[in-house]
Order: sequence, then C-alpha cells, then structure tokens
Amino acid sequence: MQQRPYDLFSPYFKADPFPTFAQMRQDAPIYAHHTPNGRIIWYITRYEDVTAVLRDDVHFCKDPRNAAPPQQPQRHATLQQMINENMLFADPPDHTRLRALVNQAFTPRRVEGLAGAIQATAVTLLEAAAQRDSLELIGDYALPLPVQIISELLGIPPADRTAVSDWSQAIISPGSRGLSYSARRRKLRAFVAYLQSMFAARAAQPQDDLITALVQAEEAGERLSEPELFSMVALLLVTGHETTVNLIGNGTLTLLRHPDQLARLQQGEANWETAVEELLRYDGPVETSTTRWVRQDIVLQGQRLRRGDVVRVVISSANRDAAQFAQPDVLDVSRSDNRHLAFGLGIHYCLGAPLARLEGRIALPLLFARFPTLRLAVPPAELRWRTGVLFRGLETLPLTWEA
Ligand code: HEM
Repeated sequence: MQQRPYDLFSPYFKADPFPTFAQMRQDAPIYAHHTPNGRIIWYITRYEDVTAVLRDDVHFCKDPRNAAPPQQPQRHATLQQMINENMLFADPPDHTRLRALVNQAFTPRRVEGLAGAIQATAVTLLEAAAQRDSLELIGDYALPLPVQIISELLGIPPADRTAVSDWSQAIISPGSRGLSYSARRRKLRAFVAYLQSMFAARAAQPQDDLITALVQAEEAGERLSEPELFSMVALLLVTGHETTVNLIGNGTLTLLRHPDQLARLQQGEANWETAVEELLRYDGPVETSTTRWVRQDIVLQGQRLRRGDVVRVVISSANRDAAQFAQPDVLDVSRSDNRHLAFGLGIHYCLGAPLARLEGRIALPLLFARFPTLRLAVPPAELRWRTGVLFRGLETLPLTWEA
C-alpha cells in the first residue's frame, strides 16, 4: 500500500508533532519512512501496537546482528563498539545477564539516598539564578541537575565532573559540537583511560558508589568485564544527560502553558507525584524508542515487516492515543488511569525510572515554589526544539518572573 509521506524531521514538525502523530495513528499506523539510502524504517504509532512490539522479543530484537542473514553477520564499527555494546542494544541472554548485574548495583536504597543531594543541588542552582536575575531553564537548571546527580551516583569526584561531562557530550552528539572524527577519538580514548583507572581504584579501595557496586556485582559466578563496565557507565552517563533534562524542560513549559493546572498544584489541590506522571505522558522526554530490528517476519495491522527491517515505536504518539487515554490531548495533573509508556515497556523498561521520577518530583515543585510568578521570557514561536528522532526536548527555555 502506497502511503503519503509524513514530515517527521522539520522544525515545523518538531514544534508540535502531535497533530502529525494523530494523523498517522488514523491513516498509517504502521508507516514506512523511506530513507535517502533506500532503506525502510517502520514507524509504529498506536498504543496497542507499540506495547505489542515492546513486549515481543521473539519477532523484534535490539542487536542488529540477530536480524542479519546468518551468513553475513553485521559488526559494529570498532570505535563505536564499546559504546554500543551495552544492554540497551543487547538481546537475551546477554541482556538478561547485564541487567541482573546492574540491578544489584542500582538499588532502590541507592536511589532513595539521593533525595537530599537532588534537593540541595536544585536549591543551589535556583539561588544562583535568583542572584543573576535570569533563568535559562535548560542550561541553568534542567541539565546541570541530572548531570550532577548521575555523577554523584556513579561516584565521579566533583573535580573531574566537567571533563567527564565533556567526554560524555562527545559520545552523545559529536555532530552538533563540530567535532572531527579524530578529535572525538582522542576524547573517547581519554575517557576510556580515565574510567579504567577509576575501575582499578575502586577495585582496590571500594567506596559507597555505583561504580564500586558495578565492579563488585557478581551473578552466577560472573562479573562485568572491563569493556562491559565501560559501556554500562557510558550508557548511564548518556541517559543521565539526555532524558531527565527533558522531563524538567518540557514539564515546565507544559505547566506554563496550562496555568489552571499549575494553580491546582500550587494551591495543593493536586499532587506532584501524579502530575509528574501526566507530564511524562503529555510531552515526555523520549519521542521514539531506540531502534529495533525485525528478527522474524511479522504482520502488524495488515502490513508485513520483514527480517532485517528497522522499527521505531513512537512513544509520544502512543501516549496520546484516544483508544487508551480519555481526552488524551487534555493535560490533567490528577489523571488517575495513566499507564503511559514514557519509560518504555518489557525487558528494556527504563532502569533509571525511579531516579528520574524522584528528580522530577523534587525539581519541579522547588522551581515553582522559588519563582511562583515564572513565565516565558520570549514569544512561544521563538522556542526551538532539538532535532533528531529519539528525544523530545527544547534547545533553550528563557524564563523570567515578577520581582
Ligand atoms: C524522565 C527521564 C527518563 C525517561 C523518559 C527514560 C526513558 C527510557 C526509555 C523509553 C527506555 C527504553 C528504550 C527502548 O526500549 O528503546 C529507557 C531505557 C533505559 N534507561 Fe531511561 N529514561 C529516563 C531516565 C533515565 C535515567 C536517569 C537513567 C540512568 C540513571 C536511565 C537509564 C536507562 C537505561 C540503562 C535503559 C536501558 C535499559 C535496558 O536496556 O534494559 N534512564 N529509558
């Protein structure tokens, strides 16, 4: 079946993707996007299909080698290998082993223990903004908060955090920072060397931090190898940099655009825990899941997907599906039946969900309590959304308040 092409990449689309997703759910729920190099990427937009794909590890996989013809297995490029070979891009049994090991280290007790640090870091950032009399929410608050907290959790000493953040950025978005291939390679090497010395130091002298817990974690007599440790820490740093920032950024903008809902929170008529869930549903940080591959042919909504095809499930679309949510385009900070997919589903369900929730539940109320008259400092049309299909977040969010 020939489908009309949808614009999924322009700044116009990014400014408000939801009408396009609504059209796709209705007319092309399994949509074939044709890439310039002749590839097909399937976009899956209905809640029902998104949940089916996320739960199905038989027909879909994360490691492309499991979807490649057996006689020509694909390999990751060497430079990318250590970054890519993490559990987000692994299938069972590798994924099961890696996830079990990290679960031992990333415990509820460790996450709950961060509440004080999140509160203190948030207050420091907000007081600095009050002193300056200006707040660019993303750069001054939404990004530095989770970056500080993930560094704290891992056990990266404060003096090294700027360098680690710089190396992580080089892994995440080399293009946007204009880095050449060789410059990126140099940074990656420096990062590997730094973490190797960190692993050795923690093995010799354990501390109460996540890196020590990962070095020590053992499952059925097995530990994480050094490349696996590197990949795991890199994954946590990347997710720590790219996701919670958008919960705080998109969440703030959404509340500013819905003053009636914000007022309910400020007057104690609704609670922040439920509100954070609604903000995750309404305009969450992750627009589409990471790439999945068809491992076995499957027919979805009458459309045949073939082994080796690329699949993206559109989380932002599923979370606005009227077949699942009453009045999905209405923000209701006390929505009760809210089984949103902001953290994914199935075996790759977000490891950091409890931490992200805790950060949102602390950061957002503190922001609006410190600046009760917060408002946009620029016309809404000037807001720019970051490009790329994976994440949904603002480049900047300039704010102001009444003195
Ligand atoms: C609001 C913030 C966050 C959101 C919305 C979010 C969302 C997600 C989603 C949708 C997935 C599944 C991706 C897929 O199946 O393709 C995922 C996986 C993951 N997330 Fe998060 N995430 C957030 C914060 C975090 C944080 C703070 C951490 C780490 C500290 C983290 C660590 C991970 C890891 C390690 C995985 C891979 C799990 C696996 O493959 O088993 N996330 N996240």
